[in-house]
Amino acid sequence: MSAKTIAIAADHGGIDLKALIVKQLSDQGYNVLDLGTDGASSVDYPDFAYAVCKTIIDGKAESGILVCGSGIGMSIAANRYPEIRAALVHDRLSTQLCRQHNNANVLCLGARLLGVATAQDCVDAFVSTDFEGGRHQGRIDKLSAPQ
Ligand code: RB5
Repeated sequence: MSAKTIAIAADHGGIDLKALIVKQLSDQGYNVLDLGTDGASSVDYPDFAYAVCKTIIDGKAESGILVCGSGIGMSIAANRYPEIRAALVHDRLSTQLCRQHNNANVLCLGARLLGVATAQDCVDAFVSTDFEGGRHQGRIDKLSAPQ
């Protein structure tokens, strides 16, 4: 079985945390698709959120991780796609719940708000927690078809 592919991107507020997460996931055997940004120059977070989302929608990655200063802009941008369920998380429990109940396929992190250890714990929970299905399936189906 081939390794799971995870797409990741950050704006200038998240490059250091992104680099740590790329190493964390690569060391665990994941295929990590790093879509930038890599320098400290100011960039626009929607461009990077859209790049990760399109990669998932095109089937080139199973899930994604987006990092900006607060995680807020990335989560707003990513959730504009009906196929994407992006979760802005703060700790291991909120990350576990976004997988178990919401089947989140994109994790959003605020590099200026979370310590590195907490952020990496969120990443660990994101990749190791399964969706529970059952009563939650119908609810997430409704997310793709707002009335
Ligand atoms: C960039 O300064 C900052 O606005 C961005 O990283 C993010 O926090 C937006 O939501």
